[in-house]
Amino acid sequence: MMANILLFLLLSAIFTVDAQQGESIVSLGSSLTPTTKVSWLSRSGLYAFGFYQQSNGYAIGVFLAGIPEKTVIWTANRDNPPTLADVTLNFTGDGRLVLQSAQGNESAIVNPPERAKSASMLNSGNFVLYNSNKDIIWQSFNYPTNTILQGQCLLAGARLFSSVSESDQSTGIFQLAMQTDGNLVQYPNIPELKVEHAYWASNTDGQGNNVSLCLDDDGHLYLLNSTGKYLSNLTQGGYPTNGIVRLMRIDADGIFRLYSHNLEKNGNWLVNWSSSDNKCDPKGLCGLNGFCTTVDRAADCKCLPGFVRVHQGNWSSGCERNFTAESCQIKNGNMQYNMLEESNTVWEDSAFSIMQPITKEDCEAACLEDCNCEAALYKDAACRKQRLPLRFGRRVLTDSSVALIKVGKSAPIINNIVPMVREKKPQKGILIMSISLAAFGLIIKSVDWDLPEEEAILEEWAYYCFEASELSKLVSGKEVDQRQLERMVMVGLWCILDEPSLRPSMKKVLLMLEGTVDIPIPPSPTSFLSTV
Ligand SMILES: *[C@@H]1O[C@H](CO)[C@@H](O)[C@H](O)[C@H]1NC(C)=O
Ligand SMILES: *[C@@H]1O[C@H](CO)[C@@H](O)[C@H](O)[C@H]1NC(C)=O
Ligand SMILES: *[C@@H]1O[C@H](CO)[C@@H](O)[C@H](O)[C@H]1NC(C)=O
Ligand SMILES: *[C@@H]1O[C@H](CO)[C@@H](O)[C@H](O)[C@H]1NC(C)=O
Ligand SMILES: *[C@@H]1O[C@H](CO)[C@@H](O)[C@H](O)[C@H]1NC(C)=O
Ligand SMILES: *[C@@H]1O[C@H](CO)[C@@H](O)[C@H](O)[C@H]1NC(C)=O
Ligand SMILES: *[C@@H]1O[C@H](CO)[C@@H](O)[C@H](O)[C@H]1NC(C)=O
Ligand SMILES: *[C@@H]1O[C@H](CO)[C@@H](O)[C@H](O)[C@H]1NC(C)=O
Repeated sequence: MMANILLFLLLSAIFTVDAQQGESIVSLGSSLTPTTKVSWLSRSGLYAFGFYQQSNGYAIGVFLAGIPEKTVIWTANRDNPPTLADVTLNFTGDGRLVLQSAQGNESAIVNPPERAKSASMLNSGNFVLYNSNKDIIWQSFNYPTNTILQGQCLLAGARLFSSVSESDQSTGIFQLAMQTDGNLVQYPNIPELKVEHAYWASNTDGQGNNVSLCLDDDGHLYLLNSTGKYLSNLTQGGYPTNGIVRLMRIDADGIFRLYSHNLEKNGNWLVNWSSSDNKCDPKGLCGLNGFCTTVDRAADCKCLPGFVRVHQGNWSSGCERNFTAESCQIKNGNMQYNMLEESNTVWEDSAFSIMQPITKEDCEAACLEDCNCEAALYKDAACRKQRLPLRFGRRVLTDSSVALIKVGKSAPIINNIVPMVREKKPQKGILIMSISLAAFGLIIKSVDWDLPEEEAILEEWAYYCFEASELSKLVSGKEVDQRQLERMVMVGLWCILDEPSLRPSMKKVLLMLEGTVDIPIPPSPTSFLSTV
C-alpha cells in the first residue's frame, strides 16, 4: 500500500517535471477574448501570447506575464487601433489566427506561408505556429518590434522601431537597423534616410552581407557573421543566468539598452548597458525647430527663439513660429524682421546657399535681405542659408555653431486663431465697419468721413494713421474715445489680412472689441498687399 503511494508520488513527480520541460500546445479551434480567457501561457508561466491593455482598449502580442510589470515584448499589427472588449481571437479550424469582431469581421493576426496545425508560446518567449510536420512555419522572433529577448537575434536586413511611449506600443520616431552591409545603425524613423542621419553605428560595415545582432542568456550582446565570427561585442556577458530575464530594446527615447530582471527578487528592470549616455544623441527627439539640451543628464527640449511648442508635453511635435508675418517684407527701408541667435547649437544642414568668408553680422544682414532665407547656420566664417523647418537640433557647448533665426519684429500670433469661414479676399468693408462702430454711440452719425474712395489706399492710410498714432485723422478731428477707436482699427487691420489663417475668428473679434482680450499689434497691410 505504502509502496504504491510512493510509486504514485514518484511517477507524478516525474510526469510533472516532464510536462514542465515540454511545451504548451495550442490546438485548432482555441480562442481568446480580452475579458475571459486572455492569453496562452508558456509552460513556465513566464511568457504569454494574447490580449494586453493598451490605452482604452486591447492589443495582441507577447508579454511577460510572470512579473508584476507586464512588460510587452512583441505586438501584432502594432499600428492598428486598440480593439474593443467584444472581439475574439480565433485559431480557426482551418488553421488561421484571426481577430473576429462582434459583427463577424475578420482580420489576420499573422500571415504564415501555409495553414497552421498547432501553435505554442515557447518558454523562450517565442510564439510559433507549426504545420502538420511540426515544422515552425511562423515565429514572432522573426518579426521583432522594438525588443529582442535572450536567445534571439536581429537578422541582417531587419529593423527594430521604438514605441511611441512605454504605454503606447505603436511605432515611434527611432529605429535600429541591422544593415546588410554588416553595420548596426541607429536612425530617426524618417522617410528618405541618408547616411548622415545616423546617430549611432557599430562601424562594422564591410563584414559580409549576413551579420546578426544576438543576445545570449549571460547578457552577451554581439554582432556575428554567418560563419560564426564575433565581429563586435557590445557587452562581454558572463553575468549569472539563473532566474534572470534579459532583453534588449530600442526605447522610446531612441537609445537601445540591455535590461535584466531578477525573477526571484522581483525587483525592477535594471539597465546593464546602453548605446549612449547622452540623451540628446537621438536625432529628432525635439521635433522640427526644437533642440535638445541636457539638464542633469536628462534631456530637455527647447524651441528656437521666436518659436513655441506645437503641443505642450509632446516634444516630437516640435515648435512653430509665435509670430505671424510670413511674406518677405522689406519696403521703403521698413524692416519687418530681426535676426535672433541661438549659440552652441547644431542642426541638420540643408543650405541652399553658402557664403564665406563672412562675418556673423554680414551673415545676418544677408539673410534679412534674402526673401528665401528663414534661418542661417554660422560657423567658422561660413554662412549657410536655410529654409525652415530646421531638424535634429541639439546644444553642443563645445561647438561654436550659431543658429540665426529670422523673426518678425512685431505681431505675435493671437492664441487659437481660427480662420474665418470666408476664404476669399477679405472684405475691406470690415475696416470701414470697425471705424464706423468706433464712432457709433460716441457721436451718432454726425461724423464727416474723410475716407478716400480707393480701398487699398484706405488700408494703407488707416495703418499709417495707426502707426503714427494719428488715428484722430480718420474721423477728422471729431471727439471720439481714442482708446476705443484704436481698438476698432486694430481689429479692422487684423480682419483684412490677405492670409485667411491669420484673421481672427468672429468670437475673437468680439472679445477684442469688448476689451476682454488684448489685441496684438497688427502687421502692415501694405507688406501683404505687396506680395499679392
Ligand atoms: C472561430 O471560427 C470558426 C470558423 O472558422 C467559427 O465556426 C467559430 O464559431 C469561431 N469561434 C469563435 C469563438 O468565435
Ligand atoms: C466589416 O466588413 C465589412 C465588409 O468587409 C465592412 O464594410 C465593414 O465596415 C466592416 N465593419 C467593421 C466594424 O470593421
Ligand atoms: C566572417 O568573418 C571572418 C573574419 O572577418 C571572415 O574571414 C569570414 O569570411 C566572414 N564570413 C562571411 C560569410 O563573410
Ligand atoms: C544568415 O545567417 C543566419 C545565421 O546567422 C543563417 O541562419 C541564415 O541562413 C544566413 N542567411 C544567408 C542568406 O546566408
Ligand atoms: C567577443 O566575445 C567572444 C565570446 O565571449 C570572445 O570569444 C571574443 O574574443 C570577443 N571579442 C572581442 C573583440 O572582445
Ligand atoms: C547587470 O545585470 C546583473 C544581473 O545579472 C545585475 O546584478 C547587475 O547589477 C547589472 N549591472 C549593472 C552595471 O547594472
Ligand atoms: C515670441 O518669442 C519671442 C522670443 O522668444 C518672445 O520675446 C516673445 O515674447 C514671444 N511672443 C509670444 C506672444 O509668445
Ligand atoms: C506627439 O506628436 C507627434 C507629431 O505631431 C504625434 O505623431 C504623436 O502621436 C504625439 N504623441 C503623443 C504621445 O501625443
